[in-house]
Amino acid sequence: MKAIILLGAPGAGKGTIAVSLAGKGRYEHLSTGDILRAAVAENTSVGRKAKPFMDAGDLVPDDLVVELVAETVRQEDEVCWYVFDGFPRTLEQARRLDEQLELNDGSLERVFQVDVPVEVLVRRLAGRRVCSACSAVYHVDNRPPADEGVCDRCGGELVQREDDNEETVRNRLEQYKIQSEPLTGYYRQRGLLEVLDGQKDPESIADDIASCLSAGVVDR
Ligand code: AP5
Repeated sequence: MKAIILLGAPGAGKGTIAVSLAGKGRYEHLSTGDILRAAVAENTSVGRKAKPFMDAGDLVPDDLVVELVAETVRQEDEVCWYVFDGFPRTLEQARRLDEQLELNDGSLERVFQVDVPVEVLVRRLAGRRVCSACSAVYHVDNRPPADEGVCDRCGGELVQREDDNEETVRNRLEQYKIQSEPLTGYYRQRGLLEVLDGQKDPESIADDIASCLSAGVVDR
């Protein structure tokens, strides 16, 4: 198994880019946020444990998240390239991902950090709408659906994510700074880090990533 990681603050566009990449064929999008939200919606025991952390904009404990990722990866062993979106988010998660990859004869090919200024992040999160049925992501200004409030893909109702309210967003950005920014140094030291301009069009960012992975160079 080969893996790449998308690092970036809440609203940087990790999910949107991962969906574009997945459309290019050999990539499997693995979003810990999506997996956790599904667990909450299904009211599983993991979902019940994770919900209070997610509602507050705090990180879910490492053990819970690492176990979820291990289970998902085991179920999807035919896939060639995983695109980790929102994982790892702490140095402990990063170390445990290294262990898992080693155990599965896998390799971490590259880590892409998607950079976006904080004022843009706040505007993106305030205007984000997601489909309540299929989780497709829209934005009221940047990526509006054809019919207001209705998903282009499945016709589902578009809603605001519960953790996209102002107070929770502030805490998510703070947690990112404290707990996740150290990952940049961790991967830079190992020569794996590529920094991308997250204000470009998501499709062209995904193209840059795909060409980097096939040619070893990123066209910024
Ligand atoms: P998660 O769902 O991972 O949230 P996040 O990291 O806060 O990231 P977002 O989903 O908010 O943003 P994104 O970067 O994917 O941006 P998007 O593409 O949607 O996690 C939620 C919670 O789960 C966490 O708070 C935590 O509690 C828990 N959790 C998850 N993983 C965990 C872990 N590993 N450990 C512990 N806890 C964990 O885009 C945002 C908006 O911008 C959209 O409206 C989009 O249309 C727009 N947009 C995107 N790209 C562009 C662009 N290039 N130009 C213009 N607009 C754009």
